[in-house]
Amino acid sequence: MSMNYVFGFFLFLLLLIALNIYFFYTLMPISKKPINFNVPSIKLDLSPSVFKDIYDYLNYLPSQYKSRNQKFQAVQKTLISSFSPAIVQLPDVWPDQSLVASGSSLYPHKNEVAGQILHAMKTSPIALVDNAAKGTQLKLLLLLEGKQKLYFKPKRYELDHVIRGSIVAGFDRHNAEVFAYYLAMTMNLTWIPPSVIRKVNVDKEIVPVATLGLKKTMIRNANAKHCIYGKCFYCKINETVCPDHKGEIEGAAILYLDKPFQFNVYKSPWQRNYHSTKLMEWQKNSDFCKKVQGTLSLKRILDLIDISIFDFLIQNGDRHRYEMYRNKILLLDNGKGLGNPLNDELDILAPLYQCCMLKLSTWRHLELLSGGSLTETIKLLSAFQGVKLATEEHFRAVERRLLKLYATVQYCIGKHGSAKVFKTQW
Ligand SMILES: *[C@@H]1O[C@H](CO)[C@@H](O)[C@H](O)[C@H]1NC(C)=O
Ligand SMILES: *[C@@H]1O[C@H](CO)[C@@H](O)[C@H](O)[C@H]1NC(C)=O
Repeated sequence: MSMNYVFGFFLFLLLLIALNIYFFYTLMPISKKPINFNVPSIKLDLSPSVFKDIYDYLNYLPSQYKSRNQKFQAVQKTLISSFSPAIVQLPDVWPDQSLVASGSSLYPHKNEVAGQILHAMKTSPIALVDNAAKGTQLKLLLLLEGKQKLYFKPKRYELDHVIRGSIVAGFDRHNAEVFAYYLAMTMNLTWIPPSVIRKVNVDKEIVPVATLGLKKTMIRNANAKHCIYGKCFYCKINETVCPDHKGEIEGAAILYLDKPFQFNVYKSPWQRNYHSTKLMEWQKNSDFCKKVQGTLSLKRILDLIDISIFDFLIQNGDRHRYEMYRNKILLLDNGKGLGNPLNDELDILAPLYQCCMLKLSTWRHLELLSGGSLTETIKLLSAFQGVKLATEEHFRAVERRLLKLYATVQYCIGKHGSAKVFKTQW
């Protein structure tokens, strides 16, 4: 009887231990499985490893890139003398077409000429306004007295509006167009049309000289004001531009490149996929530059790298195609810049870190711009036309990206040596 009792107790104990072991090995490991089992690690960080290397170089960036370069002073002085205001005789200021694109720049700019052209673009009376129907975004074509034409890209956002989501999201930013012009000129990338902030009174300056086609794309809003929805690929009747309380529309006035300009348009090898999330080849293949070298000349690749640097600083991820004139790439259509000051999409620099080469002249010039000089100059030059172009956050962002750019070049030097990176004949 007592033996049966002991045996029963023993059996009970055995069962308890067995259950314990069972639960220990089946239930417990559930939460540990991902560590114990050799499953392939899921890469949450989809950025290429090159980004990590570039950030390592950023952490050890030589201090010279964080302070001002004294050699920049003379360059800045020359820029100021180009943009400082001067008395101009309208409409004589428009350059002779034979002077345009004749030397080392798209438009003449030295000795106050840039300032004179901007002033004339901002103030010349408007003789005719029409829709500029080409392209995806609402823009107008202004014909000035004196026959010069301007594109007018109206303001869609306040300066502190942050564009979230895709790098190409949102309407064009009118201030980015103008910011881009000053940035390019400060970087000595002079193949860009002049651009300036202009305010236009709708009732006084547009309606009386609007073409019939433009009038057809205007409607009155709830306050009985004339609003424009325009004519373009993405233009919609419910997405109008309306005048402010003064009856004005602000916008970027961009010099229109009329005859004799005949551009050739090319697809960028580093273009993004706009229609699906499928990655483009350059986003998957770290040897992509080798392939590009098989199809484009060294000069063209170096030009594309210059432009990727410019685009990275303003975060323009929309350079899917580019226009060429007389073997120079023109910096047209920069309105997708300055979307989000907190974002630094490093892959805009893919042409640079994948090819790891750069014109020596570009590098020498970039080295001059360190320590705050770049954005200080943009502020100084744009102040002559009296408009604030971006929030302080955007200016700080451009300086932060400049450091990342220096780090990217250091990464390339570290990987290949400066003799391979810098191309001296340009
Ligand atoms: C700007 O570029 C031109 C060539 O296009 C060059 O002659 C000039 O020296 C450069 N200026 C500066 C300040 O780097
Ligand atoms: C305008 O209408 C289109 C549909 O035609 C819609 O997709 C879009 O979101 C609307 N825009 C605004 C600002 O309401």
